[in-house]
Amino acid sequence: MTKTDENLKAAFAGESQANRLYLAFARKAEEEGFTQVAKLFKAAAEAETIHALNHLRITGQIKSTADNIGTAISGETFEFKKMYPEYLEEAKQEGNKQAAWSFDVASKVEQVHANLYQKVLNALKTQKQLEKVDYYVCSVCGNTVEGSPPDKCPICGAPKEKFFKPT
Ligand SMILES: [Fe+2]
Ligand SMILES: [Fe+2]
Repeated sequence: MTKTDENLKAAFAGESQANRLYLAFARKAEEEGFTQVAKLFKAAAEAETIHALNHLRITGQIKSTADNIGTAISGETFEFKKMYPEYLEEAKQEGNKQAAWSFDVASKVEQVHANLYQKVLNALKTQKQLEKVDYYVCSVCGNTVEGSPPDKCPICGAPKEKFFKPT
């Protein structure tokens, strides 16, 4: 890996984080009634996404969809099998209950993601046309479900109304 490849990777990570940070700042600004500041945070967040995607494209990490699903499965699997269990254990040891909750639900949802990706990858390999299905996301824990939202989120217990359909 060249120095520039490393820099692209680091810049992709930084710009991706800046995007989410600014969106969180925009929400806070809205809560505090600073509509104009929220607008600037949102505009800058969009710009950081453009930077992140430019950097990512140049690294050559975006492959065919089948390959990309494979990459996604590897990432999710690492997270729910190794990364989050360790983080969860450490959060418990340190008595950080909020972090423990956040790691725990994320870990469970990453397993759901790995399964959903695997399902679509299998379908991609065996079917010409993929079955049309909607996905719903729990706005509390990120749980991702096929078809229709459950009455109660099986991961965090949030009610049906907390689910939204990504556009
Ligand atoms: Fe995930
Ligand atoms: Fe949930």
